[in-house]
Amino acid sequence: MIIHNNEKFIVNNEFATEVEKGLNDKQKHISPKFFYDKNGSRLFEEICEQPEYYLNRIESLILKKSVNEIMNMLEQNQISIIELGNGNSLKTRILLRPFLSNLKKVCYFPIDVSLKMLKNSIRDLSREYVNLQVLGICSDYISGLIKINEFIKMNDNIPKRKLIIFLGSSIGNFDPMESVDFLYSLRRYLRKEDALLIGIDLEKDKTILDRAYNDRKGITAKFNLNILSRINRELGGKFKLSTFEHKSFYNIQKHRIEMHLESKIDQQVRIEAIGKTFCFKKCETIHTENSYKYSQNRLKEVVKNAGLEVKKNFTDPKKLYSLVLLKKVSDTTKS
Ligand code: AVJ
Repeated sequence: MIIHNNEKFIVNNEFATEVEKGLNDKQKHISPKFFYDKNGSRLFEEICEQPEYYLNRIESLILKKSVNEIMNMLEQNQISIIELGNGNSLKTRILLRPFLSNLKKVCYFPIDVSLKMLKNSIRDLSREYVNLQVLGICSDYISGLIKINEFIKMNDNIPKRKLIIFLGSSIGNFDPMESVDFLYSLRRYLRKEDALLIGIDLEKDKTILDRAYNDRKGITAKFNLNILSRINRELGGKFKLSTFEHKSFYNIQKHRIEMHLESKIDQQVRIEAIGKTFCFKKCETIHTENSYKYSQNRLKEVVKNAGLEVKKNFTDPKKLYSLVLLKKVSDTTKS
C-alpha cells in the first residue's frame, strides 16, 4: 500500500498495476478476482439467490444427496477437511453435519484470502458445532495447503486422512490448461488414500447459460459494473457507470461464459492513481470474466492430465452440474 502524492487516494498496488496492464492490452481486460470487494461479495451472494443462477443451488442439492456416500468412500472414522475459499460456508455445513454425527473426529481447515470472512465463519462454526476443531488459514490456496500439511504431520491428534474441497465451480475461472496445472499442484498434497471434491458446472443449452449470467433483476449486471465503481473508489477512476453496459454470453466454440463491460460511446476515462487516461471506442469492451463449462469428456481429460482420476461423479437428474470425487492415480495402477 502506498499513499498517493496528493494524499487523496490510498493506492492498492496490485489492483492499480493489474488494471493499468489490462486496460493497455488490445482486448482490454480486468481479472475477475477483483470483483470481490465488500460490495461485490454481497452482490455475488445475491446472484446465488436469483432463480436463473442455478449453480450453487444445484450444487447444494447434489451435496446433500451424496454426502453419506462420500463419507463411506473415505473409509475412516477420522477426517481433516480442507476447504479452498470458504465463502459463507453454508454449503460446508451440509458436509460437516453428517460427518460430525457419524465420525469420531472431524477437523476443518478453511483457507481464504479474506481474514474477515474467515473470522466470521470460524466463530459461527465453533458455536454451532462444539465438537468440531476449526483452524482457519488466511492465505492463498497453495501456501495454505503447505502450512496445513505440516500442521497435520506434526500433531498426532489431528486426523491424517484428508478431504480437500473446492466448491462453487470456482475452477471455472481458470482456462482448461490452468485447471490442469492447478489440480496438479493440489495433487502434491494428496496421498493415495486422500480425496479431492470439486464442483464443476456442466455444458448445457446456451439459453440456460445465457440466462444464468443475465438475470432479470440485473444483479449480475450490477456485479459486473461494480468493478468500475471499485476503480473509482479505490483508484480515483472517473468511470461513468451509465456509459457502460453489462454484456455476457455463452461462447460455444470456447465452452465458456464471457462477461464484458461495453462502452456505449467513444470516450476517455482518467484514473488518477495510475496517472493515465484510457480511450474507449463505442462498442469496445473490457473483458472481465470467463467461466468455463465442461462436458463429461472434457472434464475427464482435465482430471487425467492432472494425474488424478474420478472415483465418483455425482450429478443432478438434469445433468446441470457435477460434484466429482477425485483421487490420485497411484503409480502402481498406471500401465
Ligand atoms: C464464482 C466464478 C463460480 O463463474 O459462475 C457469477 C462468478 N460471475 N455470475 C461463476 C459469477 C457472474 C461465478 N464463480
